[in-house]
Amino acid sequence: MKYVPFGRLGFEVSRYGLGCMRLPLRVQPDGSTSTEAIDEEHAIAMIRHAADSGVNYFDTAHGYHGGNSKKVLGKALRDGYRERVLVASKLPAWIVETADDFERLLDEHLAALETDHIDFWLLHSMNRQSWDKLHKLGILEHLDAMVAKGKIRFPGFSFHDDLDVFKEIIDAYDWKMCQIQYNLLDVDHQAGREGLRYAAARGIPVVVMEPLKGGRLAGNVPQYVLDRWATAETWRSPQEWAFRWLADQPEVTVVLSGASNMEQLKDSLEIFATAAVDGLSDAERRLVDSVRQLYESRIRVDCTACDYCLPCQANVSIPRIFALLNEGSMYENWPEVKARYARLVEEGNGAGQCIACGKCEAVCPQSLGIINALKTAHATLAP
Ligand SMILES: NC(=O)c1ccc[n+]([C@@H]2O[C@H](COP(=O)([O-])OP(=O)(O)OC[C@H]3O[C@@H](n4cnc5c(N)ncnc54)[C@H](OP(=O)(O)O)[C@@H]3O)[C@@H](O)[C@H]2O)c1
Repeated sequence: MKYVPFGRLGFEVSRYGLGCMRLPLRVQPDGSTSTEAIDEEHAIAMIRHAADSGVNYFDTAHGYHGGNSKKVLGKALRDGYRERVLVASKLPAWIVETADDFERLLDEHLAALETDHIDFWLLHSMNRQSWDKLHKLGILEHLDAMVAKGKIRFPGFSFHDDLDVFKEIIDAYDWKMCQIQYNLLDVDHQAGREGLRYAAARGIPVVVMEPLKGGRLAGNVPQYVLDRWATAETWRSPQEWAFRWLADQPEVTVVLSGASNMEQLKDSLEIFATAAVDGLSDAERRLVDSVRQLYESRIRVDCTACDYCLPCQANVSIPRIFALLNEGSMYENWPEVKARYARLVEEGNGAGQCIACGKCEAVCPQSLGIINALKTAHATLAP
């Protein structure tokens, strides 16, 4: 395992961190699974194997696996493991109603995690609304107070919104870390590369989440992308390219990835045994750029999900439908995408309901031909 300094905090952290949002699930006798029912034995073995292999960064949150992720992590870190690793968890902003909720929720985490302190306490999934809400309730003073009490060591936040909101939050406090979505496709999405560099330039360590885009950049990668990866001089799996591309960048402190089973975990650990800053050649970096362009060439509707077209008077979920169409086209996961579209139709939000009033087209900043694109989407996605 490779290690890097965690900013200026005086300790080192493993380049690979284990995210506990996608732990293995218990298979019921009828073959079904529920995200709330973790296969505890398997998950605990994975967490301990990661720690025994040198991983010292573990991430969980209030709601992962219906609240069970933090409990399983707490159990896994018994028997001396807790003292060897750093634990990150998150304040669920959407549950907070008053400032009294801040410490109550933190205390619930401490109990579930079976610990007296959390190393990294993040404001979960900050965006314009959640940041404004917590800020007004006095979250920054609360974080200082919790550090003083020793309940948390390093305040941070995780982020899902636009770059300008990210910069505003970064500049608002003496953050000890932040967590952003970043992978070889999401270079200009949310905080993106500019946000990564903005934080790093201010000495704030960046933990990267969704490095494999939740698994889409590994596993069932479409043939047209595999063919491009196959042109490399050195053969590497798609996940190895995705991980090495992140590890290559000095601004990325931890690559936080979930693993659904032990085999994936071991594969990732093997990659991070050697993945390092400046580990790719210029030709390899260009190859990754070309793979990104290849994926992007499959985008069918250039919708940015700004939601200006909503609410639609016919209840059509316009941005969600275009996202499904683009996803199917890019990742060729049509059965999954069609099943999700079928649910959207059932809920009364399908593209077939469009009445062609054109109000959406009049307000679309991208000037998209939404009415025709909805027809195409319905023809492609409906069974
Ligand atoms: N704060 C937030 O707002 C937020 C949001 C999202 C995530 N997170 C945190 O960030 C962590 C990382 O995000 P993520 O779980 O989405 O990471 P990710 O690395 O993008 O996706 C993990 C998934 O990729 C696949 N995978 C992982 N390693 C693999 C390997 N070696 N070979 C093949 N497939 C592999 C598995 O999916 P399949 O088995 O399905 O193929 C696995 O469940 C989460 O676990 C969570 O702790 C935080």
